[in-house]
Formats: sequence, structure tokens, C-alpha cells
Amino acid sequence: MKEKIKRNISSYCNYNKTFTMYDQLRQPNGLRKLLQIFQRTDIPIEKQKVLEGGFGTGTYIDHIRHYVKEIYGVEGSDEGFEQALQKIGNATNVYLQLGNILSLPFSNDSFHVYMVNQVLHHLDTEPGYPNLNVFLRESIRVLKPGGVLTINTSSKEQMNPHFGVYWNYKYIEKAVRAMQARFIPIDELISRMEKLQFADIKTTIPSGKIFQEQYYNYPYIALKPNFLKGDSVYCFLSQDEIEEANARIRAGLEDRSIYKEMKRAAERAAEIGEAVIISARKPS
Ligand SMILES: C[S@@+](CC[C@H](N)C(=O)[O-])C[C@H]1O[C@@H](n2cnc3c(N)ncnc32)[C@H](O)[C@@H]1O
Repeated sequence: MKEKIKRNISSYCNYNKTFTMYDQLRQPNGLRKLLQIFQRTDIPIEKQKVLEGGFGTGTYIDHIRHYVKEIYGVEGSDEGFEQALQKIGNATNVYLQLGNILSLPFSNDSFHVYMVNQVLHHLDTEPGYPNLNVFLRESIRVLKPGGVLTINTSSKEQMNPHFGVYWNYKYIEKAVRAMQARFIPIDELISRMEKLQFADIKTTIPSGKIFQEQYYNYPYIALKPNFLKGDSVYCFLSQDEIEEANARIRAGLEDRSIYKEMKRAAERAAEIGEAVIISARKPS
């Protein structure tokens, strides 16, 4: 029998493979900050209608659904969609669908809040980030006047392979450089939001972590094939390049320099965080 081809929408990574392990490796970084931002809007959180774009396996939705009136989600991969459906079970205030956030299936002025978490870098392959503009225009269209957009992303500084916050990036520099190019610089993102008349644009650094605890104290984890499913950066490496990276990691384990690198990255994360949240309001 022919296997069903699963849909996938990322411009560089097949999430139908990645999501088979994602939840065991990642945490929903910034959750607490996001809830604080939702609470600062004019409408009480328990009355809010919220949208998440690119919800992945539904981890954020599964937390936030307990605080808001209704939560909707649009996701581009079958595997993420199916896992999210399982996670939310028979929750009655969650409405999930497959789709493309560049063309949202909702009418104008629908939501009090629209959030995207670690999605923007999947939208564009061109250096001018044209799809980012499409995303921002769609965001402002579906938000109600006064509604809030939250973008959870990472800065180039956080992703720097030598001075950034992810210790394993030092060993996969080529892939990191390729992925970094997909991330619009934060200043440029803010300037595009300003041009579209977003108001009250704020940048916040959440204090939480992106990976599960093991990543921060057990370097051998990076040698496990399943670890590569926790970060789309590995989609930029061939099998040979992965083996070369593993050889570098093994050398770092042998001379123990990897522990120094982990300590350095942890200290840097304490200074600049592991992600950035940009929030802004559609004018009333
Ligand atoms: C790094 S994952 C983040 C998943 C989830 N937001 C989280 O933080 O756990 C990126 C997600 O964006 C989704 N995605 C990328 N481009 C998309 C698009 N144009 N429309 C809908 N989903 C998209 C991918 O399928 C994937 O689930």
C-alpha cells in the first residue's frame, strides 16, 4: 500500500520528521512572558480570542487554552497538526487547522491576540524577506483594532556560533550561518512593523529555556541522532557533515573543552536570553 505523503510547509525543514521527537527535546520558551503581554491588553484574558500561527505540536496552545476564551491555530505540517490534536484531546475552546499563515483563513478583525513562536525564519528563502511583509499584513488584517501581535524569535547575537547562547552551535557553524541568514535582524523587523503602523512596539527577553534540561548539562546528547530533531538548524547539514560535527564534539569531550563551551554559553544566556519576544498593537 502507498504511504500517505504528509504535508509540510517550512522553506527548509521537513517537520514531519522533526516533530517525532520535538517535544522530548524542547520547552515552550517565553510562555510566562506571553501570558503577561496578553494580560496587559484592554480585554481581560479570559475573554480573549487568540490565534497561534505555526503552532507545531501545539505545546503553547495546550498551555494557553486554560487562560483564554478561545484559541485558534494554523499549522503547515501534518505531523505537528496530528500531535497537537492528540495533545488538546477534547478541549472545547480550541480550533486547529492545517494551512498557511501567509494566507490566513479568517476574516478581518477576528482576534484579540495573534502569536507566532519560532516561525518567521521558515517563511523566506530570499534575503529581502518578502514573505515577512505578507505575514505582517495578514497579522494586522486578522487582529481586531487594539489587538496584539507577539513574535517569539531569536537574535543573530543569540545564535552566534562562537559568542551566542547555544553551545552546540560552535560545532555546526556552517549550518548555523545558513539558518542565521533566514532570521531577519530584530531592528529590521521592528522597522517593517512601524511602516505598517503597528503601535507600542516592545522587545522583551524571556528568562526561560528553549531546550529540555538535559541539553544544558549532558553534552553527549548532541551525539544522539534523535537530538537533531530538536532544532531545524540540522536540516542544513548532510549526513557527512553531521558525522564531521560529531567528530568535533567527540574531540571536545575528550579534551573536555566542550564543558568550557557549555559554561560560556550558559553565562551568555543569562546575559542576553535564548529568545526575543516582540509585541505590538494594531491601532484602535
Ligand atoms: C520551529 S517550529 C515552531 C513550532 C511551535 N511554534 C513551537 O514553538 O513549538 C516552526 C513551525 O512553523 C510552521 N510553519 C512554517 N511556515 C509556516 C507557514 N507558512 N504556515 C503555517 N505554518 C508554518 C512549521 O510547520 C513548524 O511547525
